[in-house]
Amino acid sequence: MKIGVLKETFPGEARVALTPASALQQQKLGHECFVEAGAGVAAQFSDADFIAAGVTVCATAGELIGAVDVIAKVRPPTDEEVDQLGKGQTLISFFYPAQNEALLERAKGRSATVIAMDMVPRISRAQKMDALSSMANIAGYRAVIEAGNNFGRFFTGQITAAGKVPPAKVLIIGGGVAGLAAVGTSTSLGAITYAFDVRPEVAEQVESMGAEFVFLDFEEEQQDGAATGGYASVSSPEFREAQLKKFREIAPEMDIVISTALIPGRDAPKLWLEDMVASMKAGSVVVDLAAERGGNCDLTVMDEKVVSPNGVTIIGYTDFPSRMGAQSSELYSTNIRHMMADLTPEKDGVVNHNMEDDVIRGATITHEGKITFPPPPPKVAAIAAKPKASVPELTPEEKRAEEVAAFKAQTKNQVTLLAVGGALLLGVGLVAPASFMQHFIVFVLSVFIGFQVIWGVAHSLHTPLMAVTNAISSIIILGALMQIGSGSMLVIILAALSVFMAGINIFGGFLVTRRMLAMFQKS
Ligand code: NAI
Repeated sequence: MKIGVLKETFPGEARVALTPASALQQQKLGHECFVEAGAGVAAQFSDADFIAAGVTVCATAGELIGAVDVIAKVRPPTDEEVDQLGKGQTLISFFYPAQNEALLERAKGRSATVIAMDMVPRISRAQKMDALSSMANIAGYRAVIEAGNNFGRFFTGQITAAGKVPPAKVLIIGGGVAGLAAVGTSTSLGAITYAFDVRPEVAEQVESMGAEFVFLDFEEEQQDGAATGGYASVSSPEFREAQLKKFREIAPEMDIVISTALIPGRDAPKLWLEDMVASMKAGSVVVDLAAERGGNCDLTVMDEKVVSPNGVTIIGYTDFPSRMGAQSSELYSTNIRHMMADLTPEKDGVVNHNMEDDVIRGATITHEGKITFPPPPPKVAAIAAKPKASVPELTPEEKRAEEVAAFKAQTKNQVTLLAVGGALLLGVGLVAPASFMQHFIVFVLSVFIGFQVIWGVAHSLHTPLMAVTNAISSIIILGALMQIGSGSMLVIILAALSVFMAGINIFGGFLVTRRMLAMFQKS
């Protein structure tokens, strides 16, 4: 299969859908790669770099479209680009079919297959193809950098000979992909970072990244992210009021606000109102990532940087990923490569457009002369924490009665177990020799105690527990080594087996503990 990548024609767009590194990977899947001359220049990839990676450079877009089976690009195609598509050709790019109906009809008219990268469903398996997320990740990072560039102070606090500098306070509104990337960047720069989202599961993620979640004094039924495809749904007017009240309260303290709140298919909710901007200190910065959908801030002007009368800079750029062209191209071309890998399951360069595959079906918007948008909901639920089932509140008396009943049941079980165990031991004692019984009782007791101890340990502590079992394994090895010189073949075999199994436990324990510790080490 021949894959060709067009040069982006949108003014200022620096991204490209293929990099020399991803071209090498595509070739491993059995594809031949083509690129329009100059397509990678804005992202710092020259034609020579592509040629060195085995890519054929075509002089014009027309020449490229005529030469390939699959065309990849970043921005939605222009009318002219769609009109050049041939029957059976495949186009992969961002497309936003819900907003581009005329373009969709045009693509259908050409009998071309269109795969919209913005329609890749948000399910675990599709994460590697999720270009919206990889671009939002870059936008979140860049938003913090852009804010810092327009903020006349440090992010981190410092104590210097010249004086004490307090750390900046940053508020991130919306903890989706872009929001969490902004939280990570802001905390790593040393700012005191706060974040807010309507989805409750975000609180834990935010806190695990070293930021503080802004809780509201409000009770609303938790939103089930899984049911809405990992996205939020519209909150009630009362919730919105509580949210605005909280924001109004903290606005004067915030130096930087980065807003990313969005519900798909809707205009961005207005969350940072004019009076909040007015209450911020001069020199503060608001970066509104939702500018394209109307903005979360009242004063945002799309694609522009404006300064409010009280000196707050409000940034409404919509091209943050393009401002980091090289990085965005790397990630986007990797998303495209994974999409091609899904389309080429045999890695033989032959595309198998399997409409039974959730990801391919979800992203395909025209196929074999038909519009296949919107897709049916994916069979697999989106990635989101399930809300805890609500447990009815018990009165203190009911709680006590419940505890007493549980204690009685537990005691009854233990007495029965003891009685059965004692009877069995007595039975064995009647027939077995005294020396055997001595060892047997020690063995039974140690099994019993060991079981009781380990049963009570939380799952999360099982790995550290392995380190302790190493000590036990060492005792087993010592015992086994003392027996291994015995005259009986059976004892030798059993001792050798004990040494072998305890050895696995010891070395496996070290390996697992090492891997676990490595997860907490900064590289
Ligand atoms: P996302 O859907 O993953 O995250 C949006 C978050 O906003 C969700 O966590 C949602 O729960 C939250 N949210 C919704 N309503 C809210 C409310 N009333 N209050 C607080 N939080 C609320 O979206 P993603 O991918 O993180 O993108 C975020 C924004 O960034 C979008 O507006 C997207 O269009 C924009 N974006 C902008 C770019 C630029 O260059 N300006 C580039 C890429 C994305």
